Amino acid sequence: MPDRLIDAAIHVRNNAHAPYSKFRVGAAVEDADGRIHTGCNVENATYGLTVCAERVAIFKAISEGARRFVRVAVVADTETLTPPCGACRQILWEFCGDVEVVMSNLAGKTETVRLGTLFPRAFDGSFL
Ligand code: THU
Repeated sequence: MPDRLIDAAIHVRNNAHAPYSKFRVGAAVEDADGRIHTGCNVENATYGLTVCAERVAIFKAISEGARRFVRVAVVADTETLTPPCGACRQILWEFCGDVEVVMSNLAGKTETVRLGTLFPRAFDGSFL
């Protein structure tokens, strides 16, 4: 079944700036109004400044005024589906809470898990 969130992540993955790792990632987040916000990974010659696709997508969404999110999609060209990295899990938790995370590859393999499963016992603003 077509899924426009996954399709958006596949599409934006083509814009990845990944000359160092060659590992291209696309991400898309759906907000509570059904709007889709996309991001790709953006690498830098000083490798540590690289920003993952998920964070690009969520920061773009936040800067456009979106605040509530229902679903996140992550696409990479890997047989074993690529999950968000630890840093992205923390950022996604901050803005999305326990949303559905859809991981997918270019062959159409898909798995959906909740962020709370990927990122149990998270630290967040409730501790402050
Ligand atoms: N990357 C992402 O964009 N998202 C992930 O979930 C995993 C890793 C990027 C960062 C870097 O540009 C490349 O993949 C290799 O780590």
